[in-house]
Amino acid sequence: MPVDLNNARPLAWDSATLDADTKAMLDNLQPNILRAHVREHLAVLFVRFNDAAEGRAFLRHVATARMKSAREHLEEVRDFAGRGRRGTPYVGIGISKAGYRDLGHSVEQVRAFGDQAFRDGMKRRVAEVEDPPVEQWDRAYQREIHAVVLIGDDRPGPVAALREEIIGALPASARLLGEETGRGMRNPAGDGIEHFGYVDGRSQPLFLKDEVDREPRKHWDPAFPLANVLVPDPFSPDPRRHHGSYLVFRKLEQNVRAFKEIEERLADDLGLKGGDRHRAGAMLVGRFKDGTPVTGRAKAGGGPVANDFTFDGDDGSKCPFSGHIRKTNPRSFGREVLMARRGQTYGRRGDEPWDDAPPETRPSGGVGLLFMAFNSSLVDQFEFTQRSWAGNPDFEHPATGHDPVIGQGERAIKVTFPKVWGKPEQSPPQAQVAQTVTMRGGEYFFAPSLAYLRTL
Ligand code: HEM
Repeated sequence: MPVDLNNARPLAWDSATLDADTKAMLDNLQPNILRAHVREHLAVLFVRFNDAAEGRAFLRHVATARMKSAREHLEEVRDFAGRGRRGTPYVGIGISKAGYRDLGHSVEQVRAFGDQAFRDGMKRRVAEVEDPPVEQWDRAYQREIHAVVLIGDDRPGPVAALREEIIGALPASARLLGEETGRGMRNPAGDGIEHFGYVDGRSQPLFLKDEVDREPRKHWDPAFPLANVLVPDPFSPDPRRHHGSYLVFRKLEQNVRAFKEIEERLADDLGLKGGDRHRAGAMLVGRFKDGTPVTGRAKAGGGPVANDFTFDGDDGSKCPFSGHIRKTNPRSFGREVLMARRGQTYGRRGDEPWDDAPPETRPSGGVGLLFMAFNSSLVDQFEFTQRSWAGNPDFEHPATGHDPVIGQGERAIKVTFPKVWGKPEQSPPQAQVAQTVTMRGGEYFFAPSLAYLRTL
């Protein structure tokens, strides 16, 4: 029996009654897809092969010597919680369409991948998501990337050692085209944040029973079927039991200074004073910096970062329809669109991203998000979110504007913001906030099953 990807019940992965096919699936799936792997320190290597046999041998070696399965990862997490035993680093592999071709798969074979965006590659999808022209991307991304290797851990040492080892194992015919270094940032409460200073990574589709059981779920059901992220791996020995996931990688540079200026200007325009000024940024993101959803409270605070909420009954006077988290997850529909986000921040800075220091002390470039997400369909999940929700000023309600965080393209129409939380009075129409996130390059990959990689 093939694994039922549409089962609505979250997976009880360590149950004694787990069927053999699902076990095989977990033993052959890469970690970090069904459950986020620790990647406080992250090395991202972009590779081009140039010789099919040598490329295959390299991937086989990394997969056999250094990659654990999703099941081993879950066991490590359980052992860490129970006995404090530290887990091993994460190593993940994604292969691009060009990579499969260079590894010796024919054009015909590559058609087995159902996803058009994957088959095109990111460079040919610029128009679909209004990305900057390829000539403006960072040089490494302008080249033809065949594979990405991800190395993550909570300490820098193991990542540095594995990075050296894996680069050392590259055959002479291959090229390291470029690399990125991710480094997690946290606020004083210990929550992971992004460069604008907001808690990030809180809302995720959850696939595993132990994760779902820990969540309050009166309003929002965080449990999702595996079908949101998994597809059969077409080249694996047994696609009914061996799965993979489409991985979108995008380097998104953040102009923090400009975003902080925008927050200040919006607070001035709305006449917000004192602590209320933080509501300006909260209306752009949908959450206050500490993660409090603005649809639920007019002010930050109120305990652990909530995720048990919807926007029902919020006509846009609490959280505007354009707010980043409302655009990217309206919560009353579109569950099949949600991806498993696994990004990491990049770039060093001397200031504290979470405090109220003036905008002129903030970086205007060189920092951002290495956006990564696992999808079962790049077209219907990542691209749909970017284009039809974030990039659509009429999404849900006419003329409510682009997503102020990730919207791309011309922002022609004017928008209004609620002046008082939960009250109908709106600001005079004003220009939409400027774009402060710039895509610097990226690629679409498929994260194949270990069964494929180990038999290459
Ligand atoms: C959530 C920031 C790029 C999709 C969030 C949150 C923040 C954030 C602060 C709230 C934390 C949470 O609810 O987990 C950013 C920044 C970005 C960026 C600064 C770029 C530099 C993207 C992109 C997409 C995206 C490119 C997809 C096209 C989402 C989704 C959520 C989210 C789906 C969760 C919404 C929910 O379920 O409530 N983002 N994000 N983000 N973001 Fe982004």
